[in-house]
Amino acid sequence: MRINGISLLCVAVLIVSCKKDSPFKIVDNGPATPYEIPNPFNSLPDMEVPSYNPTTAEGIRLGRKLYYDEILSMNNKSCSSCHPQVLSFTKSSMGPNGMQILPHINLGWNKAYGWNGETTALDSVALADLEHGNVFLNANNDSIKARISNHPEYPQLFHDAFGIDIREVSTSERQIYISYALAQFMRTLVSSDSKFDRYLRGETDLSPMELYGLDIFYREDKGDCFHCHGDVYNPLWTDNLFHNNGLKSTHSGNDLGRYNVTGNPSDIGKFKTPTLRNVELTAPYMHDGSFSSLEEVVAFYSFGLQDSPTIDPLMKNVDYGGALLNPTEQAALVAFLKTLTDTDFLFNSAYSAP
Ligand code: HEC
Ligand code: HEC
Repeated sequence: MRINGISLLCVAVLIVSCKKDSPFKIVDNGPATPYEIPNPFNSLPDMEVPSYNPTTAEGIRLGRKLYYDEILSMNNKSCSSCHPQVLSFTKSSMGPNGMQILPHINLGWNKAYGWNGETTALDSVALADLEHGNVFLNANNDSIKARISNHPEYPQLFHDAFGIDIREVSTSERQIYISYALAQFMRTLVSSDSKFDRYLRGETDLSPMELYGLDIFYREDKGDCFHCHGDVYNPLWTDNLFHNNGLKSTHSGNDLGRYNVTGNPSDIGKFKTPTLRNVELTAPYMHDGSFSSLEEVVAFYSFGLQDSPTIDPLMKNVDYGGALLNPTEQAALVAFLKTLTDTDFLFNSAYSAP
């Protein structure tokens, strides 16, 4: 009896370990665990999460793994190769489409993605790339299918997150599930601990120079930056709209901006206002990387504006070249912009490679 019991136990152990090691056995762990993304901002509504892709702990775990994995690429890239955490999920280089890489920060509150806003749901950003030849990661659908299907963990992780067998679904469904998981992870990338956030919460002071810069940022007869880049009630530091800020006098190719999506001539030269959160870390600046430092950007808004038919009315000083800020005012504005840096975000272990 005793021996029989032990051998039964051995068989049971064998079956369990066999299941665990085989890429082909999926265990049903029940429905995924709902996860509510915290909202640290009093002045912002909660993030809107689409009902077709609710956030779950298992979905975030899968998205995080995919984000850091080269499995979607044929030339050893992952999302994080172009979007590394230490630089607020961007890198100081152009993407394959000749546009500056955009950071990932509080993206769940955005309404349009990419410099031209060509994608309107975070859930579709990776999907758009996977569907249209995968230029960012360089892969093909067959390679993705084979590698994910044969992987020792992914079939189980997809099942835990979405209740599906990723090896059995169609190519287009596979792309959707990959993209949805990535979006769930990216929604969790929330930054709310810059020096300026702490100043607003009464936890720290700003220096006189930083306060002077804040004043210039607001004053309509000085920097007048807040109409587009947000104010103390808008912790996103962008209006999430499209503007021509006077970077170029003529426009062709990528410089046409939003026009390349809408075909509407009034959109020529307009780009999504980039967030100023962590802007200290995201050089070079503008969609084409025109400027390599914040000093250069502020000098541009002071003296370098270029007129064109679609220039934003807020660039009202274009006839004089710009806001004509003197060197002290420019330095103060830069000092203020640096208070928007959130270093905790860069080292938050929940966002790092799993
Ligand atoms: C080869 C570099 C590269 C890789 C790899 C890459 N991206 Fe990007 N990403 C970019 C560039 C460049 C942009 C800006 C493109 C544009 O606006 O036309 C961008 C923009 C984005 C945006 C829009 C951000 C915003 O503020 O609007 C998201 C979201 C994004 N990428 C997610 C991903 C995910 C997820 C992956 C992995 C599946 C990935 N990226 C892989 C270069 C890359
Ligand atoms: C009319 C709206 C508008 C106003 C006003 C405005 N900006 Fe911008 N800003 C933009 C847009 C749009 C871009 C991106 C343009 C592009 O890439 O071609 C931008 C880009 C930037 C960037 C580069 C960010 C990056 O990640 O590349 C910085 C920094 C910046 N603005 C700071 C300021 C400051 C400081 C002021 C005030 C002196 C200001 N902006 C006023 C719309 C505006």
